[in-house]
Amino acid sequence: MREQLEKLKTDALEAITSACGIEALQDVRVKLLGRKGELTSLMKGLGALSAADRPVVGQLVNSVRDEIEAALRSALVTVREQAKLERLQSERIDVTLPGRFASCGSRHPVSLIIEEVCEIFAGLGFSVAEGPEIEHDWYNFEALNFPPEHPARDMQDTFFVDNDLLLRTHTSPVQIRTMLKQKPPLRIIAPGTVYRCDSDATHSPMFHQIEGLMVDTAVTFGDLKGILTVFTNQLFGQKTGVRLRPSFFPFTEPSAEVDIACVICGGKGCRVCKNSGWLEILGAGMVDPEVYRHVNYETENISGFAFGMGIERIAMLKYGINDMRLLFENDVRFLRQF
Ligand code: DAH
Repeated sequence: MREQLEKLKTDALEAITSACGIEALQDVRVKLLGRKGELTSLMKGLGALSAADRPVVGQLVNSVRDEIEAALRSALVTVREQAKLERLQSERIDVTLPGRFASCGSRHPVSLIIEEVCEIFAGLGFSVAEGPEIEHDWYNFEALNFPPEHPARDMQDTFFVDNDLLLRTHTSPVQIRTMLKQKPPLRIIAPGTVYRCDSDATHSPMFHQIEGLMVDTAVTFGDLKGILTVFTNQLFGQKTGVRLRPSFFPFTEPSAEVDIACVICGGKGCRVCKNSGWLEILGAGMVDPEVYRHVNYETENISGFAFGMGIERIAMLKYGINDMRLLFENDVRFLRQF
């Protein structure tokens, strides 16, 4: 029995050493120490021994059991340590790897200019007005005193939806919509998208304008010039020269085109200003009484001025952009610069 025990011990220790994994160790434990385990069966045989042998062999069995249990415990610890190490290794995170950047968008230059212009005019008491991009002929042309044969009414310049509906060619119809809703005094600024059948380096079939309108009891051409000078000085810098040239628009009389001293050469003459030293930035004038008639205003005691400018052109001048198409291609390398 002594030999049997010794052999069992050697076999058991060997089985424990070669067992890999927690489950294998559990199996070994059951096989040796379980209810039907090898050592348990041996212990059951103790009863058949003589009274003299019994305590000696009993002690031996106990010590073998203790040794096996100790070996199992320490093997279990080693296996758990090993498993933990393996897990840590596989879940390893390299904290020195550079992070992935979430790139941040930027404001479009056209939005930037609209915002800036609206802010300047807000400071002068103007509030923002809006109108639809699909417009009736009457608001876009008729009420603004465009004669029936005016070239702007031609298919070549205007996108028609049907006989009466069109994509507005300017923001001026917002003047009409505002005056039909409100009585003077009024001061509004109307930014928006407009459409014309035109496309090259300085024209896009879809672009943006800002319209301005002020109507009150004694508004003069001097007020118009004063407001526009404050505006251009704030947008382009205090020392920017401004001049008004006589011009013509069906809805203003007298009309003017407003130039600023060339922002590139400062007035000396260059390629951008075509050697004139001046850059045209907007159209303006005193509201034509014919327009008031269309919106049922009494013409006797009121006067007012209107103006309109192209946003893309202003953005190009302010940021030194030489091709309008860049503003609509949405190349992030271009947009990121603003
Ligand atoms: N609507 C004109 C255009 O698109 C711009 C303009 C000129 C607007 C004179 C005005 C103005 O209000 O008074 O070319």
